[in-house]
Amino acid sequence: MVESASTFDKLPSVQALRAHFQAVTSKAHLRDLLADEARNSQLRVALANEQAGEKTDAIFDFTHAKIDAEGFKKLLKVAEDANLFAKIDSMFKGEKLNNTEKRSVLHVALRMREGESLIVPDSDEGDAVKNVHAVLHRIQEFSQKIRTGEARGYSGKELRNTLIIGIGGSYLGPEFVFEALRTDEAARKGAEGRKLKFLANVDPIDFTRAIEGLDIEETLVVINSKTFTTAETMLNARTVRQFIIDHYSQKYPEEQDKQKFVEAHMCAVSTNLPETKKFGVKDERVFGFWDWVGGRYSVCSAVGVLPLSLHYGFENVKHFLEGAKSIDEHFRTTRDPSKNLPILLGLIGFYNSYICGHDSRAILPYCQALLKFPAHIQQLDMESNGKGVTRTGERFEAGVQAGPIIFGEPGTNGQHSFYQLMHQGRPIPAEFIGFTKSQTPTLLPGEPVTSHDELMSNFFAQPDALALGKTLDQLQKEGVPPPLLEHKRFLGDRPSVSLLFMGALDAYKCGQLLAMYEHRVAVEGFLYGINSFDQWGVELGKVLAKDVRNVFQAKQSKVSSDDIAKQTSEKFNPPTNFLL
Ligand code: F6P
Repeated sequence: MVESASTFDKLPSVQALRAHFQAVTSKAHLRDLLADEARNSQLRVALANEQAGEKTDAIFDFTHAKIDAEGFKKLLKVAEDANLFAKIDSMFKGEKLNNTEKRSVLHVALRMREGESLIVPDSDEGDAVKNVHAVLHRIQEFSQKIRTGEARGYSGKELRNTLIIGIGGSYLGPEFVFEALRTDEAARKGAEGRKLKFLANVDPIDFTRAIEGLDIEETLVVINSKTFTTAETMLNARTVRQFIIDHYSQKYPEEQDKQKFVEAHMCAVSTNLPETKKFGVKDERVFGFWDWVGGRYSVCSAVGVLPLSLHYGFENVKHFLEGAKSIDEHFRTTRDPSKNLPILLGLIGFYNSYICGHDSRAILPYCQALLKFPAHIQQLDMESNGKGVTRTGERFEAGVQAGPIIFGEPGTNGQHSFYQLMHQGRPIPAEFIGFTKSQTPTLLPGEPVTSHDELMSNFFAQPDALALGKTLDQLQKEGVPPPLLEHKRFLGDRPSVSLLFMGALDAYKCGQLLAMYEHRVAVEGFLYGINSFDQWGVELGKVLAKDVRNVFQAKQSKVSSDDIAKQTSEKFNPPTNFLL
């Protein structure tokens, strides 16, 4: 991996950009920046290879970012100085970008086409693409057998339900894609007569809700866990396993081999084959992946592909992978950063956070099918870039933050929730995502516009409202009474970007959107010089929870409070009195 010459904030181009922002851009209002048409035309980029005569898939409009033409030039210089393309290349080559865990970062290999090749450096696993497609073929065959009823549950019923057990990256990605495709016509057809449910939280409430309305005899359980050791997932998996055993033991008391119940209803996606075997999942029902796929980057591995193929059919999931692949190619081969969408998203994200000093970012899809997209991006981005040291272990200077706080909701619901704060409280860089068509067009007779047009009116209006605001002068002209003037005033000057896809959200575009955000997260990490692919920050809480768990365990086995105290770490004192 090519390291930058020094930490990112010492790069002359970063300092020059910062100086320009402080001296010039911060003093201009977005209203004035938006009046500059020459600037605006540079800040709208189409996702299409016009030379190859491709149609436009999407338009990225960052005219509403608080940047002027000179600042943009300087931002592109940052990309150059940060060796962005060298870093992107090293990712695609499988160099060990995840240096603290000595792992390659190759989720892009999950979308490579059959026949392509990628030998993972310093490993004996051979051609990653070949291995990926071997698993894909197994998933295609297996999901087909389940969907056609060739493979059935223990009692002979068709397995029409899928229950996914998993948490974090083993849950959020599949749930986002599941929701995104629920109302897509092709996917909907594929899912006819089928149910897909999730069990993520260890809270027993989630178990109760997950199995509600599910006939377990018609249910195939997919345990999604890269490590197969995650406490919550394994406890949930054991709970569901027992539920299956109890159900069938009552119905078939003569069956002595309870393992048969489990084998007929449980499969697993994991990199830990010894543990899946120990758990009782048959080897032919385990779908593997590799340590070069990070959990939050795993939706294109069997983690997403297996359950989504069971539910929607393999063909739909293939389109999703193809969409992601198209962005991988765009990202890798578009060497002009001013035309490369994931790079631009990353650059503007970096600019908003580091140069303009915004702590947070709102992800606002104007598409109800993307209701789980913000939650997925929250993990993807915050677990990746929520870091305080560089790749080489240098702590950031005080006040420097890498990953922003991510939150979001579909529009227009968010408008009736937290947009008040965005318009008149704290400025929060917003990312609007829209589609020119709806998955489910409607036109109520007598209405002047369709519901989708109503939705998109808001999609187009919000960036302007945030940027332009409303002046006292305008309010006075409208006759607003003086005591209300300040209340009704919008300062504006609030940045946003918009990503508009042509057509309706479908599996292909869903893959494109996913890959754009995956790569933008990597780009921002490259700019900060951090490792976006480890997650040491989740460890401490797990360790301390172990101490508390010991207390609960001791309580159940009626051990004395002195012995309990001995079992907990010296540095940590859980409220044992309360627990006992
Ligand atoms: O929260 C930490 C984490 O390791 C995530 O990165 C990961 O996606 C999740 O837990 C689940 O891990 P696993 O797939 O190993 O169960």
